[in-house]
Amino acid sequence: MELEEIIYKRRTIRRFKKDPISLDLLKKLIDYARIAPMARNIQALEFIIVQNAEIRKKLFPLVRWASSLPEEQRTPEKGREPTSYIIVLINKKIKNTYVYFDVGAAVENILLGATNFGIGCCWMGAIDRDGIRELLKIPKNYEITHVVSLGYPDEESTMESYEDSFNYWKDNKGNMHVPKRDLDDIILKIY
Ligand SMILES: Cc1cc2nc3c(=O)[nH]c(=O)nc-3n(C[C@H](O)[C@H](O)[C@H](O)COP(=O)(O)O)c2cc1C
Repeated sequence: MELEEIIYKRRTIRRFKKDPISLDLLKKLIDYARIAPMARNIQALEFIIVQNAEIRKKLFPLVRWASSLPEEQRTPEKGREPTSYIIVLINKKIKNTYVYFDVGAAVENILLGATNFGIGCCWMGAIDRDGIRELLKIPKNYEITHVVSLGYPDEESTMESYEDSFNYWKDNKGNMHVPKRDLDDIILKIY
């Protein structure tokens, strides 16, 4: 895919097919994160890959889906859960002031890379960090920032023009609609 197509095509995906993602592809995504821009080139980000079915089962209730949707539409149904997860960590021994910007750049690389491979992702901040730390035995010197849930997409999501609400919504065919502000609305001034 061309870069422009990837950027426009990337949408958050919250329903997944059962086909697993190969470990090689997951490692490749983390490789894209590894070389993202980092403030002062301080590289504090580290990652955990979760593919194991039993661990996935325990991790699933520790992430929260689509808070803008009505309760019954939020969480992936049985059989449509993520097939992999990437846990994004900050190694606090290396931490620097601007590390949260680094997290954004690194995760976006993961999401765009995944889109290019036909993989769907959900970048997740509404997570039970204590539960995840305990489940994955993550040492105290790591801050758990986000989880990226991944799998081959089993839903469609498209952008639409923002009207009067930022809320994304699901139509009766199960397709997601994501309002985005128009270009002319966000360019404040041109000098
Ligand atoms: C920092 C961050 C945290 C997010 N946390 C969650 C989350 O916990 N659960 C969820 O379902 N989606 C989460 N999302 C996904 C957003 O809801 C999604 O990006 C937004 O609705 C726009 O949709 P799009 O990604 O398709 O453009 C998060 C996104 C970002 C950037």
